[in-house]
Formats: sequence, C-alpha cells, structure tokens
Amino acid sequence: MANPSCLLYAFLLLVAFQSTMMNANTVIQPPQCRPVAASSREKIIFSVNLLLYQAEFLLHASVDAGINDISPGLVQGPDPIGATIANFSNPVRRVVEELGLATVGHLRALVQAGILDAPITRPQMDVSAEAYAGFVNVAFNVSTLTPPFNIYANTPSFVAAAKGFSAFIQQYYAGIIPSIVGNVQQQLVTGIGLSQSAGLGVLRTLLNDVINSTVQPYTFTAAELSNRTSEVVNRLGGCGVKAEGLIVPLQLGAENRTTSNVVPGDVNSLAFVRFEREILSMVFGTGNATMPGGLFPRGFIGSLYRRNRDS
Ligand SMILES: *[C@@H]1O[C@H](CO)[C@@H](O)[C@H](O)[C@H]1NC(C)=O
Ligand SMILES: *[C@@H]1O[C@H](CO)[C@@H](O)[C@H](O)[C@H]1NC(C)=O
Ligand SMILES: *[C@@H]1O[C@H](CO)[C@@H](O)[C@H](O)[C@H]1NC(C)=O
Ligand SMILES: *[C@@H]1O[C@H](CO)[C@@H](O)[C@H](O)[C@H]1NC(C)=O
Ligand SMILES: *[C@@H]1O[C@H](CO)[C@@H](O)[C@H](O)[C@H]1NC(C)=O
Ligand SMILES: *[C@@H]1O[C@H](CO)[C@@H](O)[C@H](O)[C@H]1NC(C)=O
Repeated sequence: MANPSCLLYAFLLLVAFQSTMMNANTVIQPPQCRPVAASSREKIIFSVNLLLYQAEFLLHASVDAGINDISPGLVQGPDPIGATIANFSNPVRRVVEELGLATVGHLRALVQAGILDAPITRPQMDVSAEAYAGFVNVAFNVSTLTPPFNIYANTPSFVAAAKGFSAFIQQYYAGIIPSIVGNVQQQLVTGIGLSQSAGLGVLRTLLNDVINSTVQPYTFTAAELSNRTSEVVNRLGGCGVKAEGLIVPLQLGAENRTTSNVVPGDVNSLAFVRFEREILSMVFGTGNATMPGGLFPRGFIGSLYRRNRDS
C-alpha cells in the first residue's frame, strides 16, 4: 500500500542502495580520470617517460651521473634541464643512487625484451630546482618562497618533494598491469611495478625519518611540505585524493586507526590507481593533459601521448 511513509522508506532504501553501489567503485569516472584506449606496448612506452625521468633525476641528485654514464648508449635525445647533485648524508645518497640504478635496469629489461629499441629517445625533462619550486610555491600560495625553494638543498626538501614522482609510477603500473596482454610483457610489467613500489616505500621511509624536522631554511616541517605538495598534485590531477602526506587524519590512515601513513592507500590500503591524463595533468603542473610544462616542458614521447593530445 502506497502511503507516504512507505514511499519515503522505499526512496531511502534506494538511496542507501545507490550509495553502496557508489562505494563499490562503480562510479562513472570523468574522462580525465579514465584510461586512454591503447595497446599494451603504448602503455608501456607511456610509462617509459616516467622511468626515464626518475632514473635521470635520482642518479644526478645522488652521484651526479646520468643514464648513459651507467649504461652507455641506452638513451639519446636532450639532456635533462637543471640536473645537479643534492646535499645528502651518505646513507641517503646511497639509497637514492640505488633506486636510480634499479630504474636503469628496468629500462634495459624493456629493451632486452624487444619492447623498446636502444637508444631510447628521451623526452625533454626538467629536473631543475626551479621546476620543483613552481609546485611548492603553489602549495604555499605564494609567488615565491624566500629564499626560493631548492629541492636539492637537503634531505627533507628532496624526499618530501621527490616521493610524488615515484608514486605516479607505482599508481600507473597498478592501473595498467591487469590489462597488459602477452606473458612476457605481463611478467615484465609486474616485475617493474613491484620493484618501483618497493622503491616508493623506501623513499617514504626516508621521509618518515625526517618527518618532524624543519625544512631548512624555512620554519615549516617536512610533514607540512609533504601534505601541501600532496594537496597540489591531487588538485592538478582532478581525480580525488590519491597523494597523501605522511601524517594524516585517522580517516586516511590504515583501518582508520593510525595517523602514520608511510604506505598510502585506499580504504582497504590498496594502492591508488592513476591513468594517463591524470598523470600528465600533474607532471605538467598545468592541470591540463594537453598543455605541457613543469617537469616535461615539451610533453611525452610515444603514440599514446600524441593521440590524446591531438584528439
Ligand atoms: C592565496 O592568496 C591569495 C592572496 O595572495 C588569497 O586571495 C587566496 O584566498 C589564497 N588562497 C588560499 C587557498 O589560501
Ligand atoms: C647540507 O645539509 C646539512 C645537513 O642537513 C646542512 O647542515 C647544511 O647546511 C647543508 N648545506 C647546504 C650548502 O645547504
Ligand atoms: C612526529 O610527530 C608526531 C606527532 O606530532 C609523532 O606522532 C611521530 O611519532 C613523530 N615521528 C617521528 C619519526 O619522530
Ligand atoms: C593535510 O593535512 C590536513 C590537516 O591535517 C588534512 O586534513 C589533509 O587530509 C591532509 N592532506 C593530505 C593530502 O594528506
Ligand atoms: C574508515 O572510514 C571511512 C570513512 O571515512 C569508511 O568509509 C571506512 O569504511 C572506514 N574503514 C574501516 C576499516 O573502518
Ligand atoms: C588545455 O590545453 C589545451 C592546449 O593548450 C587547450 O586548447 C585547452 O583549452 C585546455 N583545456 C582546458 C580545460 O583548459
């Protein structure tokens, strides 16, 4: 019998049902957050842009070397802009170097599997202190910090700002692994994804060790820097909160029981997933996947990138 309270009850049930469905990840994502239709090889080549960046960035920062110094003839194309060695303690330097070297190994594995030809052509990459200062200025809502932010000045500055990049690699691999076709490719991409994910954990652990120190010469702490830069990349990405600081409100911590957040994740502590346009919007610093800038001033290499740009 359709009396008003019955209808209200039915309506509430429907609303409750729909919100359960929403929580079950059935939400239709806006185009910006969806994967670009592409072959397995195109997705892997998209990821190579990120691997090349990370290898150059970490190797120059730790030991003032580039990919070709480690593996002669592996890459060609423009040298990264603004590469420089960072002011690290020796233990931190060795860890950052190791993660850079591991990424060179991942690139070589893709060549050996015949997915890429050597030399791999690098996109134009900007690893300069100025490129990172751009993000940090936005994070603190100033035209420029005084003195200007220098990611290479000390360990807290570097690890708080550098872990973001490593997270993009982990999140992209988490997104593409299920769709990679072919046993060799699937195994390779899974191997790279797992190793990169471990690397991200190492960087976040380094950050956790210095989390309450102030970032010299400023008064803010590494925790605040990491929190604010996370907020900026989430805003640029436009697909929700997937970058998280290391000290978070309980509802972002594992099982809602901790404010420590060395390993970020969703409500079940699973890795967040990010796809191509979201990543481009962040690394370009423009919030726009077809407007290059920031860390990749001339865009990415590869047909997936070009097709999306020209569509
Ligand atoms: C950023 O600073 C401007 C003024 O410099 C202010 O109008 C604006 O509200 C600030 N934005 C935020 C998010 O604090
Ligand atoms: C290098 O880092 C150390 C330790 O954080 C710091 O005391 C020193 O001032 C830094 N040097 C420069 C040139 O920033
Ligand atoms: C940092 O400070 C928070 C509280 O402000 C504390 O819970 C945490 O244990 C500290 N972390 C380290 C590594 O000192
Ligand atoms: C940053 O810190 C604020 C205040 O604790 C918190 O509400 C917010 O969720 C944090 N953001 C991220 C991305 O960790
Ligand atoms: C943690 O809190 C969120 C809401 O903030 C909720 O959706 C989630 O189910 C909670 N997780 C657990 C394990 O209680
Ligand atoms: C993104 O950038 C492209 C190329 O510069 C431009 O045509 C487009 O209008 C921008 N989109 C938005 C939403 O700003």
